[in-house]
Amino acid sequence: MKFRKILAAGAGAALAFTLAACSGGGAGSTDDSTAGATGGTDGGTATEGGTIGVAMPTQTSERWIADGDAVKAGLEAAGYSVDLQFGNDDIPTQSQQIDSMITSGVDALIIAAIDGTALKAQLDQAHDAGIPVISYDRLIRDSEYVDFYVTFDNYKVGVQQATSLLVGLGVLDESGAETGEAGPFNVELFAGSLDDNNAHFFWSGAMDTLQPYIDNGTLVVPSGEMDINVTNTQQWKQETAQTRMDTLLTTYYVGTDLKVDGVLSPYDGISRGIITALQNQGYSGTVADGFPVVTGQDAEIASVKLIADDVQFATIFKDTRKLADQAVTATLAYLEGGEPEANDTTTYDNGVKVVPSYLLESDIVYADNIQSLLVDSGYWTAEEVEAGQAS
Ligand code: BGC
Repeated sequence: MKFRKILAAGAGAALAFTLAACSGGGAGSTDDSTAGATGGTDGGTATEGGTIGVAMPTQTSERWIADGDAVKAGLEAAGYSVDLQFGNDDIPTQSQQIDSMITSGVDALIIAAIDGTALKAQLDQAHDAGIPVISYDRLIRDSEYVDFYVTFDNYKVGVQQATSLLVGLGVLDESGAETGEAGPFNVELFAGSLDDNNAHFFWSGAMDTLQPYIDNGTLVVPSGEMDINVTNTQQWKQETAQTRMDTLLTTYYVGTDLKVDGVLSPYDGISRGIITALQNQGYSGTVADGFPVVTGQDAEIASVKLIADDVQFATIFKDTRKLADQAVTATLAYLEGGEPEANDTTTYDNGVKVVPSYLLESDIVYADNIQSLLVDSGYWTAEEVEAGQAS
C-alpha cells in the first residue's frame, strides 16, 4: 500500500490530546470554527500536519453534524487542517466534494457515504494518489481501496431495536427475559435506506429477533409488509416514513377494529414521522396510556425528549464521540506510516474484500436510563432533554 507519509512531528503525542478534545463536548456542542463548513476548504487552526478531507452525508440529522465537528476537532488537535463537507443527501454533490478533496491533495479521506455503492471512481482516484480512505460508520462497497472501517456493531443495533419493541410490548422484560406475554400484538415494520449498507444489518438483526414471535403468533403484521424492498425508507427521510405510515393506517386499520400496538423504526427521524402519522390518525397520549410502542436510533434530542415524555418508547445510543475518536486514531496510524488496529476482520465484506474494522458498542435508551446513559456522560444536558433541543 503506498501512502504518502506525512511528517507530522508530534502527531503521536498529540493523539492523547486528540482523544480528550473529541470527548469534550456532547452531541449538541458546537464549535464556532466549524460553523458553515459546508463549502470550500476549511482552513482549520493548524496546518503543519497536512489536510484531511472529511465527507459527511447530511446536516438534516444532528448526529452527522456532531460527527463532523468531533472528527474535525480531533484532527486539528493532532496538528492537521480539515476540509469538512456535508453532501446534502445528494449523491452527485458528495462525489464532487470528494473529487475536489482529491484534486486539492488531501493526505487522507474520512467518508460517511450517502450511497455506499456510488464512490468506486473516487476511491480509484484516491488509490492512484496514495490517499488512505477510512469508511466512517457506513461501509463503502464495491471497492478494494477502502482501507479501514470504523462503525458500531450494526447487526447488534438491529437486535437492540427489536428487543426494545418487544420490551415495550411486554413480551420481554428490560433484562431481555421472556415474560410469558403472548399478544397477539399488531406491529408494522420500517427499514432504512437501501443504498446504506447499515440498513441491511439493522434489518437483519431486527428480523432475526422478531421472526420467532411472528412465527408463533405473538406478533402480527396486518399489512403483511415484511420485505426490506417494501419497508425501506429512501435516504432515511422523515416525511417519506410519515407518508408510508399514513398509508398503512388508512389501508389496513382505519375503519376496522385493528389498532397498531408497535412500530419497528430504525432511526429517530423516521420514528418522529411515524409518531406524527399516528397522532394525525387519532392515536394520542403516552405509551403507558396505550400509544403504540415506537423504537428508534441515534438518541436525537427531539426523540430523547419524546422518550422522557413517554411518547417514543426507546432509541439506540451510539456515542458519536467515540466513533470520531476511532476515525482520528485510524487516520493518524496511516499518516504515521502504520496500520490501524482492527477488532473485527470477518464481518464487513464490501463485495470485493472484507474490510478490517473497528466496531463500537451501542446501548438501548429507555426513559429510565436517559440520565445514566446520556446526561451523566455529557452527551446531552438535563436542560437540553427538558427543552427537546440542543442549546
Ligand atoms: C447510521 C445511523 C443513522 C442513519 C440515518 C446510518 O448509516 O448508522 O446511525 O440513523 O444512517 O442517518
